[in-house]
Amino acid sequence: MDGLEVTACERCPELCASRSRIVNGVGDADAALLFVGEAPGEQEDREGEPFVGRSGDVLTAALRDRGLARQDVRITNCVRCRPPENRDPHVEERENCREYLDREVELVDPELIVTLGKVPGEHLLGRSLAVTKEAGTVHDARVGGRSRRVLVSVHPAATLYDPGQKETFAAALDEAVALAGLDADDGGGGQSRLGEF
Ligand code: URA
Repeated sequence: MDGLEVTACERCPELCASRSRIVNGVGDADAALLFVGEAPGEQEDREGEPFVGRSGDVLTAALRDRGLARQDVRITNCVRCRPPENRDPHVEERENCREYLDREVELVDPELIVTLGKVPGEHLLGRSLAVTKEAGTVHDARVGGRSRRVLVSVHPAATLYDPGQKETFAAALDEAVALAGLDADDGGGGQSRLGEF
C-alpha cells in the first residue's frame, strides 16, 4: 500500500467472505479532522463509502450543523471490510487492518483524530474504554509510531437507540471542530464554505 487506498487484501478470511468490496476512507486527504469508525455496514459495503447508512446520516447532519461537508474532513474505519452479520471486528481483524489505518493517519496528518464508538476508541487508545463516560476526553496515543491527539466520542448510531446520547455526541463534535480549528468563528471550515459567499 503506497497511498490511501487499499485495492486488494486477503488477510481476514471471514471478512473476505462477507464483504462485497473494500471500503476505503473518504474526504479530504489533507483534513484537520479524521473520524475513525468501526467497520463498514451493509450500506457502506454496497456503496463502497464509510458512514453512508443511518449512522452516516447522523454524522453527516452533525457536520452540516457545524458548517462542514463530508469532503471537509476525513472519514474512515478500523477495518475496511464488512463483518458478517455486522458483528464487531475481532481484535485480530483490527490488527490485520491496522497498517492501512496507520498509513492513512500518517498521510492525512490530521490535527485531531475522533474515534466514533467503543471499538475504535479502544483500538487507538490500546485499553478498555467506558465510552459514554469518557466521551469528549482528549488523549495522546501512539498511531503509526507517532503521538496523535485522539478525542473519544460515542458512535453516531448510539443517538438513534438512546436519544439521551444526542447531547454527548453533539458536545464531542463541538469540541472536535474547535480543537481542529474548524469552527466558524475563527474562519475555519473547508473549501465548501466558500459557497456561502
Ligand atoms: N458504522 C461504522 O462504524 N462505520 C461505518 O462506516 C458505518 C457504520
